[in-house]
Amino acid sequence: MPVLHNIAQLATCPRGNPQNDAGLIANAAIAWEEDIIRWVGHAPDLPPEFRNEPSIDCEQRLVIPGLIDCHTHLCFGGWRGDEFALRIAGATYQEIAEAGGGINSTVTATRAASLGQLRRKAATILDRMLELGITTVECKSGYGLDLANELKQLEVYRQLNQAHVVDLIPTFLGAHVVPKEHTGSRDRYIDLLCNELIPMIARENLALFCDAFIEDGAFTGSEARRILSCAASHGLGIKIHADQLSTGGGAELAAELRAVSAEHLEYISDEGIEALAQSGTVAVSLPLASCYLDEAYIPARKLISAGVPVAVATDFNPGSAPSFHLPLAMTLACIHQRMTPEEVLNGVTTVAARAVCADDRIGSLLPGFRADLALIDAPSLNHWLYHFVPNACLKVLKNGKWI
Ligand code: NIG
Ligand code: FE
Repeated sequence: MPVLHNIAQLATCPRGNPQNDAGLIANAAIAWEEDIIRWVGHAPDLPPEFRNEPSIDCEQRLVIPGLIDCHTHLCFGGWRGDEFALRIAGATYQEIAEAGGGINSTVTATRAASLGQLRRKAATILDRMLELGITTVECKSGYGLDLANELKQLEVYRQLNQAHVVDLIPTFLGAHVVPKEHTGSRDRYIDLLCNELIPMIARENLALFCDAFIEDGAFTGSEARRILSCAASHGLGIKIHADQLSTGGGAELAAELRAVSAEHLEYISDEGIEALAQSGTVAVSLPLASCYLDEAYIPARKLISAGVPVAVATDFNPGSAPSFHLPLAMTLACIHQRMTPEEVLNGVTTVAARAVCADDRIGSLLPGFRADLALIDAPSLNHWLYHFVPNACLKVLKNGKWI
C-alpha cells in the first residue's frame, strides 16, 4: 500500500461539501491499495499498518484529486485561427457563424478527416491534458451532424477510452447546430436525431449524455425539449448549452427536464438561477469561452448563493475556447467569476464529477474513492492559482499507478 507523506496541503474535496470547503488538510498523508484510496489524514495519525509501506516524500507540496474537465469538444477536424483574427478585428462569434464560419466550418473539416486522423489528434491533446493533472474528460460529439460522422466522433471516443489512461465520458451533441444541408428542413434533421441517432447511440452505449445548444442560430427551446425528452426516454442523461450569448430559457428547460448540468449560463436570468437551485442541476462555468469571446462571465456568486453547485471546465473546442488548459480556466474563474480557490477546486473535482454522474467514485480524495491524484509544485491551493505557471503538475497518479 503506497503512501504519500510530507504533503503541505491535501485537498480532499468531499462530495456534498459546501462549495467553499475543499476539505483541506495541512501536514497530510494519503495511502492507497491498487486503484482505491484507503487512508487520508494528518501525517502523525497515519495508522501503524501503513508506516512501513513504500512512501514518497512530497516535500511540502500540494496534493489534489485528479482534475476532471467536465465539458469539452475534444474531437474535431482542423482549427479556426482565422476567426480568432477576425474577432480581434471586431467581428462577433455570431457574425462569423452567419458568414459561413463557426461550428459548420468545423463540421466540414471533421467530415473530411478520417477516424484515424481524428483519433491521433485527440490522443495528443489527451496526453497534454494528463500532464496538467487531468484524469477524466467529458467529450462531446457535434461536429459530424449526420449519422456516419456523429458515429465517427463517438467511435474515436470509444477507442480512446480503451487505449488512453485518461477516462473519457462521451456526450452526444447532434443538436449543436442544424447542418448546412438541412437549413431548409430543420424538422427533418430533428427527426433524424430522434428516430435514428439517439436510439442507436443509446442502444450501443456510445454516449452517456445528450446535449443541445439553445441559441439564436442553433436550436430553439421547443426543439431542444423534443430532442432531449427523446434522449431521456432512451436512458441518456441530459445536458444543455444554455444562455451562452443571450438569455434563452435554457436554464429553465434544464430544470424542467431534470438535466444533470446546464452549461455556459453567462446570461442566465434570476428565474433560471432559482429553477436550477430547485432542480439540483449543476451549473458548468466555462471561463475560457468568456475570455476568448470577450463576453460576460457566469454570475457564479449569485448561483453559489442560491445553492447551485458550480463546476469549472475548459469548453475546449476550435472556436470559442481553443485551449485545454484547465488550470488557466481555474485562475480565470477566481479573477472573473469571483470564485474562491476552494470553490474553484471543488468545481474541477467533486462538482465536475457530479456533472458527469460520477461523484460517488471520483473527484474526492477519501477512502473508497479512485486513486486519481496530482502532485502540484506549490505549497498551497491559493499559491497554485495565484502564481500561475505553464504547468505546476509534477506527477499524476491514475488508477493507483504513477504515469
Ligand atoms: O460551447 N456554444 C456552442 N458550442 C461551443 C462552441 C463550438 C465552436 O465554436 O466550434 C461552445 O462554446
Ligand atoms: Fe461547449
